[in-house]
Amino acid sequence: MPRPRLIIDCDPGHDDAIALIVAHRHAEVVGITTVSGNAPLDATTANALMVTALLDADTPVHRGAPKPLVGEPAHAAAVHGESGLGGVARIAHARRAASDDAVGFLLDAADEALWVVAVGPLTNLALALERDPSWGRRLAGISIMGGSTDIGNVTRVAEFNTFADPEAAARVFDCGALLTMCGLNLTRQLRSNDALAKRLRRADSPLAQFAAQSFDDLHDRIEGLTGVREAALHDPCAVLAVTHPELIETRRQAVSVELEGTLTRGMTVVDQRPHTPDGGAARRGADAPTANVAYTIDADEAMAVVVEALGVESDA
Ligand code: BDR
Ligand code: CA
Repeated sequence: MPRPRLIIDCDPGHDDAIALIVAHRHAEVVGITTVSGNAPLDATTANALMVTALLDADTPVHRGAPKPLVGEPAHAAAVHGESGLGGVARIAHARRAASDDAVGFLLDAADEALWVVAVGPLTNLALALERDPSWGRRLAGISIMGGSTDIGNVTRVAEFNTFADPEAAARVFDCGALLTMCGLNLTRQLRSNDALAKRLRRADSPLAQFAAQSFDDLHDRIEGLTGVREAALHDPCAVLAVTHPELIETRRQAVSVELEGTLTRGMTVVDQRPHTPDGGAARRGADAPTANVAYTIDADEAMAVVVEALGVESDA
């Protein structure tokens, strides 16, 4: 398969950084757009620039939206630290953002061979759709880390990226593009643990050292929150859905984003009722499938791809 071309829209974020590394190993990354999410926009943009320095890649980074379409920004300092990359040694560099117009970049870059991999709140994508409602349909597709078919992580039912900008997520899930949804139900199957961090620490690779620091910090924080020293590698899954689609099984289903519920705002409501492949009468109109919803990932193979991208030789 030729290397896919893609833009990564992200809010680094530990797992966003790993997603950027995997993407640069297996795709032609034509640009990175940043958004407020795990940390404020200045921090997520600085982190994206630092990852390009770590990779020695000249990928342009375009600053995007500093806040969601509605309301105030939500951040995830408890998971990623105030900087978005807590626990990671900063790398000195002189890189600057290529522009502060991520939306213009997304609009101009669109073509039928380009994927957008969106691993933060979907604000930039929604703003692109506001300016050109056909934008999503002018792409090869959009692979999203967001939502869940079952439980949430910010609330009982809402995942962080859809919770942080539900109005944007609703627009994107309804835009008519070829969508892949890698929700928490999928991404929790791909997990880092202390054994992985130890293996990375032993490797003679700056990428592996960076990832080891990242996982150590994540494991400390997640252990504090859940009691378990493991972290889901959420965002790399949305990259792998484009670069290694054979590792992920999907089902075509309707996905809508709840905007009103007092307990359910930001929840992705997925139509999981059994139906025939062509949908049948009950799956037309509002229930017509809108996304390829990911359910299973070959976690061993996926982890092998991630570890290799981090510069670690196979121990097979
Ligand atoms: C998502 O939220 C962020 O904290 C992660 O980077 C990931 O994109 C998981 O809910
Ligand atoms: Ca993210």
